[in-house]
Amino acid sequence: MQSHDRRDRLIVQSTDSLEGVIDISGAKNSVLKIMAATLLAEGEYKLHNVPRITDVDLMIELLCAVGCEVAWADTSPATLIITVPADINPVAPYEIVEKFRASIVLLGPMLGRCGEARVALPGGDDFGPRPIDMHLHGLKQMGAHIKVVHGNIEAATKGLFGVRTTLDFPSVGATENLLMAAVAAEGVTVIDNAAREPEISDLCKFLTAMGASINGVGSSTLEIQGTTAQHRALQATDHTVIPDRVEVATYLIALGITRGDLTITRARYGHIMLLVQKLSDMGMRIRSDGDSIRATSVGRLKSVDCATLPYPGLATDYKPFLVALLATASGVSIVTENLFAGRFRYIDELRRMGADIHTDSHHAVVRGVDRLSGAPVKAHDIRAGAALAVAGLGAKGTTMISDAHHIARGYEDIVGKLCGVGARISSD
Ligand code: UD1
Repeated sequence: MQSHDRRDRLIVQSTDSLEGVIDISGAKNSVLKIMAATLLAEGEYKLHNVPRITDVDLMIELLCAVGCEVAWADTSPATLIITVPADINPVAPYEIVEKFRASIVLLGPMLGRCGEARVALPGGDDFGPRPIDMHLHGLKQMGAHIKVVHGNIEAATKGLFGVRTTLDFPSVGATENLLMAAVAAEGVTVIDNAAREPEISDLCKFLTAMGASINGVGSSTLEIQGTTAQHRALQATDHTVIPDRVEVATYLIALGITRGDLTITRARYGHIMLLVQKLSDMGMRIRSDGDSIRATSVGRLKSVDCATLPYPGLATDYKPFLVALLATASGVSIVTENLFAGRFRYIDELRRMGADIHTDSHHAVVRGVDRLSGAPVKAHDIRAGAALAVAGLGAKGTTMISDAHHIARGYEDIVGKLCGVGARISSD
């Protein structure tokens, strides 16, 4: 136990500047849903550009529990080969779901494929409750009978059918679940007020390659022509996962904190436009260079106000890094969280490092200080942990981050990538 706890730490030392090239991995929030979507049809799938992160390992465990065979090919970036059998066992057990909330996206494809599904009900997150009412409401409209028994969502249908449904809020997970169910339903489904995140467009591209017909990709109205006679028209396919825009944001903000000059390769500039605007307003220089992003940061950055919103708004997943960056910018910034009520817990950790941040409801008032000071801190979730790591690079002295396993859930080799551009960071 002792030695495990020790390895679960990141040690971050003050770093003067970052210089060089960082290569971006495949998007966590895209690959997890694409892996779930493979359950819609039997056969062998090859997914390229798959990040080697813990959440992917957990999704592999789920797919294996359902009856699939999953293997890594010896390629770089990694390729995952998923073989889906003719019959699957549509059950996502609690032991895995409790570690990994994204498993709820198995509900739509399993129900669509098998006419029944059982998924353990996910619990809350460290940053607040994560309801799934919109997922369930949409599936019920499409002809599913759903009840919660012994902590499991049990869903069954005599056959899903297409409907017109409007989401109360453009939820990423609800859009994905309904989209995957709709592909296997009879008739046309229209999802209004759908989420427009690039990861949803990537899922649509994958489903289309499987034989689905989807109109309005990238817009807030998705129209899905169901594949009649229970998914018979769907087939296994290959796919390359889009780059992870949250990883891009992490390294750009690390640069803003330390200063220097970075080239971020295999990234999509078009997916981070509003973030680029905010960072440019603060004083960074960022430009697109083919499939790379070139960024420089010189001198102290200026404060800026930010509010998180569904895409193309500023992603809630960027917010912990932005707050860490604003903590040493000159002036006062107001950061407003509009997606997850309780997503402010890492702020207590930043305060331990000397940040001057006051929270009120879903607002944070960040008064930039000259410099943070390294301290022992704790990673409460993936993004909070990464924010502490980038904050530590700019802090005086040593920052020791415990519970660093959270970071590995969503980042492939964060230590190696940052060390490669001159950061002083190691795992212990
Ligand atoms: C996904 C991302 C997460 C990101 C979030 C918002 C994955 C694995 N996770 O999470 O990194 O921060 O999108 O961009 O892709 N809500 C309800 N009822 C529902 C569904 C959602 O009230 O049925 C609420 C949530 O509590 C939250 C808001 O809607 O306040 C947004 O949630 P949603 O977009 O669904 O996020 P996730 O899909 O869980």
